[in-house]
Amino acid sequence: MVKIIRYNPFNPQVPALPEFFVGRNKELEEFQKNLAQTMHGSPMNMSITGNRGMGKTSILAKMEDLARKNRCLVFRMSNYEGSVSDIPTLTDYLVLGIKQEMLSNSMLMEKISGIGDWIKTLKPEFSYKEFSLRIEEKKIAAQSILRKNFVGIWNKVRDDYSAIVVLIDEAEALERVEGALEFLRETFQRLASEAKYSIVLSGKLNFPERMSESFSPLNRFFPTSALENFTKHEISQYIDRKLSTVGVHCDESVKMKIFEKSEGHPYVVVSMCAHVFDQLKENENRLTESHYGMASPRILFQLEKDFFNPMFHPISPKAKKVIIKVAKSVKRKEFLFKDVVGALHMKSTEVAPYIQEAVRKGILNKPRRANYHFFHGLFMEFVKGKNEDDF
Ligand SMILES: Nc1ncnc2c1ncn2[C@@H]1O[C@H](COP(=O)(O)OP(=O)(O)OP(=O)(O)O)[C@@H](O)[C@H]1O
Ligand SMILES: [Mg+2]
Repeated sequence: MVKIIRYNPFNPQVPALPEFFVGRNKELEEFQKNLAQTMHGSPMNMSITGNRGMGKTSILAKMEDLARKNRCLVFRMSNYEGSVSDIPTLTDYLVLGIKQEMLSNSMLMEKISGIGDWIKTLKPEFSYKEFSLRIEEKKIAAQSILRKNFVGIWNKVRDDYSAIVVLIDEAEALERVEGALEFLRETFQRLASEAKYSIVLSGKLNFPERMSESFSPLNRFFPTSALENFTKHEISQYIDRKLSTVGVHCDESVKMKIFEKSEGHPYVVVSMCAHVFDQLKENENRLTESHYGMASPRILFQLEKDFFNPMFHPISPKAKKVIIKVAKSVKRKEFLFKDVVGALHMKSTEVAPYIQEAVRKGILNKPRRANYHFFHGLFMEFVKGKNEDDF
């Protein structure tokens, strides 16, 4: 007889499926409002920002689900690393990406007869002549290529769909391309009178902070929501929903421990749940503090390996030294710039660039001017365990 092995419903590597999605009510309400506006001919857009593992891809998957339920055609894009280096290649990428998505969308193919052949006529390419243009002219040429293609797509599907939603994941890669976000804003702003497109950018975006104090068209065109940690209630809801698929119950005290240790960070929550669940014996169907206790050392080991190390590794050796010293000198994960400068016996100009690097890489958060905190307490403990002389 084949023995059925109970599967572990928790997997931190995989974005949440819409049916297991919890929280984010404010962001989803805003998205629904944007959808309604867009469907009524007054398009609105937004952006989501969050550090690693905060749930950026998961919320896009949820938005995709909501948009489809509202009869929208959805394009979800990511992985441009390498393929997008300037505005012409961004234009190519968007048109080719959408073309690919349309060709693989069987519902669309069924709904609109002859659309397959039409899609194949979509052309992103810059002609030989256009490649020799100056940057400004290239931008204008790119904009008209994108507009032509996007208006064409909308006119083709407008009788069968209420709007087109473009979800752009890992948008920090686009932000690094000079002028790319401004280019998207200009293009879609012009499109708004002819076609119903709503855009969502999601990523570890820097523009909201960079521009918050100044006049910023980008901020107004892509208003930003920053994803926050889960509340205790959301964690509880998430765990119950997942466990109901395998007929297992979780003690309240275990949920409390997961909430406290994870600080509500989505990736950390799911990773902890996965390890606690792994301790369950075949004949057991209740997660208790004893399972939690047995899982503890593995949780830390795995988080360091899969999550903390890949975040710490890419920063420069000098920044590593400074960050290790900071972790050792502060008592709590929150600290003031002037306090660490004092404790490190270094000049503030020697410390500031490395603190900034850590903020850019998502290791430190900067809630207010001169105030910082490590993105997670467990990460700070991990850094504390390192030796600055090794770098
Ligand atoms: N709202 C949510 N409801 C349920 N689970 C979630 C939610 N948000 C995130 N998660 C879970 O947290 C983990 C990380 O989520 P996700 O991959 O979406 O984060 P991310 O911000 O896209 O990460 P990265 O920065 O690595 O791209 C996944 O296991 C996912 O299932
Ligand atoms: Mg992601």
